[in-house]
Amino acid sequence: MADTTETTPPRATANRSTTPASDVFSDFISSNWAERDEVTPAPREQASYAAARRERISRLHPGRTLVFPAGDPKVRSNDTDYPYRAHSAFAHLTGWGSDTVPGSVLVLTPTPGGTVAGETPADEPTAGGHTAVLYFREGAGRDSDEFYANSDIGEFWTGPRPSPAHVTADLGIETRSLSELAAVLDGLDANALVVRGADREIADAVDATRTLLEAGSAGDTPSAPTDASVAGAGAADPGDTADAADSAADEHTDDSLARDASELRLVKDDFEIAEMRAAVAATAQGFDDVIADLPAIVAHPRGERLVEGTFYRRARAEGNTVGYDTIAASGPHACILHWTRNDGPVVPGDLILLDAGIELDSYYTADITRTFPISGTFTDVQRRVYEAVLEAADAAFRIVRPGIRFREIHQAAMAVIAERTAEWGLLPVSAEESLRPENQFHRRYMVHGTSHHLGIDVHDCAQARRELYLDGVLEAGMVFTIEPGLYFQPDDLSVPEEYRGLGVRIEDDILVTETGAENLSVHIPRTADAVEAWLAGR
Ligand code: GLY
Ligand code: MN
Ligand code: MN
Repeated sequence: MADTTETTPPRATANRSTTPASDVFSDFISSNWAERDEVTPAPREQASYAAARRERISRLHPGRTLVFPAGDPKVRSNDTDYPYRAHSAFAHLTGWGSDTVPGSVLVLTPTPGGTVAGETPADEPTAGGHTAVLYFREGAGRDSDEFYANSDIGEFWTGPRPSPAHVTADLGIETRSLSELAAVLDGLDANALVVRGADREIADAVDATRTLLEAGSAGDTPSAPTDASVAGAGAADPGDTADAADSAADEHTDDSLARDASELRLVKDDFEIAEMRAAVAATAQGFDDVIADLPAIVAHPRGERLVEGTFYRRARAEGNTVGYDTIAASGPHACILHWTRNDGPVVPGDLILLDAGIELDSYYTADITRTFPISGTFTDVQRRVYEAVLEAADAAFRIVRPGIRFREIHQAAMAVIAERTAEWGLLPVSAEESLRPENQFHRRYMVHGTSHHLGIDVHDCAQARRELYLDGVLEAGMVFTIEPGLYFQPDDLSVPEEYRGLGVRIEDDILVTETGAENLSVHIPRTADAVEAWLAGR
């Protein structure tokens, strides 16, 4: 949790601080500053969408205070941090992205007179829902020493912060000073819920208040359980004999709040879909940049690093950053699924697998893979493997429409992978036999899944229940990847030598439409011929 005092001392730097401490200096640096014109912005486009999302989460947990921390920066070492990223639930529910003030907290407070879900027979949503307040550390005045002496948050060090009026207008949410938050957390009732994993101090503060209230009312009505008090409940055996009252209470835990915030994103709204299109368009430019840079990439002993750097340049120029660490996997590195060390050469004659996505300032990210021959032309065996993977991707895409189950996409892709690997003599049984659940021999060459939801997180909606995710039914507005691959490890004696060290993945970002599906990344060359033409045109 962020320090909520007015002026926060810098951490870990006092022993080497050279900041003058005299009153004379303090008076001098605090005076003679121009007034600033405050410009009130129009609400950003996502403000109304975020309000609708807050309304939906409000309906799921009526009568309970809901706390969504953005989180603090994560320390890299000493007083240097990793690039800041607000928690995804916070970003989704506020519309604040890369310009989030770190340490902010969204609090949804039930309007008075509402009922508490889980404690009423009908579990009815309250009529009035919740009131949203965003607590954040507003800009500090020149009357404190923060602006010049605090290297963590001071304006001279990390830039100015917006005023409450500015953020209220920008995001369409009532704002209050972060300095007021501690009293709010102290005053919570026992039914309050918090999204954990974003800000430990905030979660601890909510726990402390709930524990205090529980101790004071021991023997009374059970209060909202914390993660700690229901640990393992999510993984309970289906045959568990917990009574109905326990089940009802379990629906309103910190875990269920995180789950609901995740499931809220399974179907994207119009703003999110537009962002996904923009993220894919930017990513396409990044792939073009890599192709254009190939001569320099091939010439460098760590060409994979140049691939990563070229893509990153585009990501920073057009978006916020990369949505995940770029996988620039040349030659046999392509067989290492999460190869992000990227310190190898890029050698003509090999394939290079590039799995990369640009995240926009709203945090929405693409996740795209293309595999291409560094020389510009596929060899026979490379083309054979490439076309099998493409066939699997196309077979999976063809079945996508509202009403099918998410898991069917993987099954469609695996049918092709099994067929082709059997045809090449790699399996000890027929494709049909390999596809039996107890066999799955073809999975030796593709151990990962075919699809995952995509959005504000690269692996979006990760807390969603299995019945809504893997076993879920597709709806228009869902966005996910289709990303089959074939990977033949360099030392895999189960395949002829010509296959060893080849890794191919083709990954596209798919939008479910009312009538079927749209491949958002279809314009990035996909067929073997189109890929060769792409390389020839550089
Ligand atoms: N880039 C990570 C993935 O494809 O899931
Ligand atoms: Mn992916
Ligand atoms: Mn990927």
